Amino acid sequence: MSRSLATALSVEGNRPSRCALPPGLDAARLPAHVAVIMDGNGRWAGQRKLPRVMGHREGVEALKRTLRLCSDWGIGALTAYAFSTENWNRPGEEVSFLMTLFERVLARELQALEQEQVRIRFLGDLEQLPEGLQQLIQDATDRTAANTGIRFNVCTNYGGRRELVRAARLLAEQVQRGDLDPEAIDEQTFASQLFTSGQADPDLLIRTSGEQRISNFLLWQLAYAELHITDVLWPDFDEAALIAALMDFQSRQRRFGGVDSLPS
Ligand code: FPP
Repeated sequence: MSRSLATALSVEGNRPSRCALPPGLDAARLPAHVAVIMDGNGRWAGQRKLPRVMGHREGVEALKRTLRLCSDWGIGALTAYAFSTENWNRPGEEVSFLMTLFERVLARELQALEQEQVRIRFLGDLEQLPEGLQQLIQDATDRTAANTGIRFNVCTNYGGRRELVRAARLLAEQVQRGDLDPEAIDEQTFASQLFTSGQADPDLLIRTSGEQRISNFLLWQLAYAELHITDVLWPDFDEAALIAALMDFQSRQRRFGGVDSLPS
């Protein structure tokens, strides 16, 4: 990340874009929040006869590229699935590589994130992560909290079902203490106990590598998201692939369970 994003304005939802949008994209109909399942790193490496971890390393470059483009085009938030609660089942060497990669990338990029007004947050059960990574996460979160640019959520040791159970437990504890009337629990109360509390739900979910699954990602928050599934492997996800996803999004009629409005 090298170009300055210092002109970012502090508004929720979409922010004014700082760079011209590619032709064909309508600034008024961009998603305010994009979520990505970054799949296909291992296959990308396998196709090149490289170790799987090289795919993850290249995946970081794709993530930085995507963050820069979303920020430049005024998209308000990007949420990336970096490590799921199930990913601990991968070979120990790969898990260790990923944890070290997260640490290195965070340490290396923090200054740029600060300067470029990115607000980074990590969503998930962070206390199970290595101590050093937890400290870096805390530092990065604190140092970028007052920034005014794109929100960048990195889901790390994240599981959608676990997040829902956690929210239910937090509400139950409030009821037990006598601080909450069960009758007062509505969707808003429930959402306030999720890791994404205070943030708008994703409008668009992109999944790379052709798999057609949600994989325990943002189960509550994706209720009305439009899905874009591409065969592109995550390390190859570039500007053209992001434009294709945004064009696909703009071609959809979003009804949120209602009906199309009739022409007057
Ligand atoms: C899925 O591909 C990808 C991951 C489990 C890791 C994604 C992590 C990154 C791109 C690094 C992000 C870094 C930071 C600092 C946020 P896969 O291994 O499942 O690929 P495959 O399905 O082809 O095997």
